[in-house]
Amino acid sequence: MGSKRVGVIIGGSGLIGGTLLYYFKTKAADHVEILAPNSKKLSLRVPEDINQYFSQTKADFIINSAIAAIDSDPQLAFEVNYLGAINLARKALELNIPYIHISSAAILPLGENLTEEDHLPLTKDLSNYAKSKLMTEMTLKHLHETQGLDYTIVRLAVVYGKHDHKIQGFHRLFFSIVDQAMPFMLTKRGVMHSYSNAQKLPDFIHHMLDHREEFTGQTYNFVDRNPVELAQLILTIKSYLELSVPKEVYVPYALARIGKKVIELIVKGLIRIGIEAKMPGELMFLDRFYQAQTLSPEKLLHSSYVDPDPQKTIFTELPDIIQYYVTRWEQLNLIEPFNKEFFDPKKRAEEFLHSPETLLELIHAGAVDPFAGPVDPCRNGKDLLQKNSSYLKNN
Ligand SMILES: NC(=O)c1ccc[n+]([C@@H]2O[C@H](COP(=O)([O-])OP(=O)(O)OC[C@H]3O[C@@H](n4cnc5c(N)ncnc54)[C@H](OP(=O)(O)O)[C@@H]3O)[C@@H](O)[C@H]2O)c1
Repeated sequence: MGSKRVGVIIGGSGLIGGTLLYYFKTKAADHVEILAPNSKKLSLRVPEDINQYFSQTKADFIINSAIAAIDSDPQLAFEVNYLGAINLARKALELNIPYIHISSAAILPLGENLTEEDHLPLTKDLSNYAKSKLMTEMTLKHLHETQGLDYTIVRLAVVYGKHDHKIQGFHRLFFSIVDQAMPFMLTKRGVMHSYSNAQKLPDFIHHMLDHREEFTGQTYNFVDRNPVELAQLILTIKSYLELSVPKEVYVPYALARIGKKVIELIVKGLIRIGIEAKMPGELMFLDRFYQAQTLSPEKLLHSSYVDPDPQKTIFTELPDIIQYYVTRWEQLNLIEPFNKEFFDPKKRAEEFLHSPETLLELIHAGAVDPFAGPVDPCRNGKDLLQKNSSYLKNN
């Protein structure tokens, strides 16, 4: 076996970085040794951290999946998302190694079939997040053209996957459905979006690292082939969970905006009198609930990368995702206990809570085997899928 390449992931505790880390540690360990310094060891806000880390580490590639919180102030967004990303890229240039950068559809206008050439104009009115991500894309291109930086940008749309511990983006919307905090449909019929499967991304990045000639200096929309209607997705989640809300009443955009303004005023008022309050995360993206944004997958489809699971979509993954998050949010006491017979079929947690003696007797007698491992989420997922397949077929 030849010597392994050493890769450094920044943002390894996040949704995307964690998924990448898990992949490289479990599926590519024979070829790649992956390192993921946490933000205390290497903060992108501290250029000296970057210098020091790479003076002590021999790296063969860098992947940057770090971002400041999406609603960060201008300084934090600029320092982490822009300066930090560019300092990493400059380090990659100095070391003559590839730099893989994760970007976002936030830099794109609304619209359909957007290509890698599209982006919003850089103006002061962009959100701190979008502005910092767009500036980074532009400077990476500049560094490629002027100094030969070997980089690739992967643009993600609405990301779905497990382990989003900060509950952002799609998972924030999903949380508000599970939590029954959305009484009516905050969208209109026919609004389509592109989705990115977090679990598929590492394989693509691995492929790009093995084919630098093709992928260097390029940007790719990494999205599932077909866009998804938001209303259908919300109603499918509702159906899986057998909820009574959101009611299938579509709140007009103008009304939803007024509601958002009212909530903003309440939050401001609460803050003024010393009560800690924050806008519900999902409302940040209200505009996008009412307008389509789909990214063209053409460039990706015409590349040498072959999606190993083209039939996987957010709909096929939903049962598994629901199983994972509902269990997690229940355990964290973020939501009321839910459909217990389904999500905890063996009822061990109930027994642990209410009749530990009986449980212990059963275990000792070998009548139950709680050590065999966690409930197989795929199995539950398949049950859910079967149970609800008629809904999907009819819609
Ligand atoms: N999630 C989505 O829906 C979505 C959609 C489109 C694009 N993207 C893109 O995907 C990438 C990853 O997003 P994500 O959802 O995985 O984010 P995430 O879960 O919020 O993770 C962010 C990561 O960045 C790290 N980080 C924050 N400040 C840092 C600093 N100063 N120095 C070093 N690391 C720092 C965090 O570490 P700590 O926890 O230690 O602070 C964490 O590991 C981003 O480029 C984002 O723009 C995400």
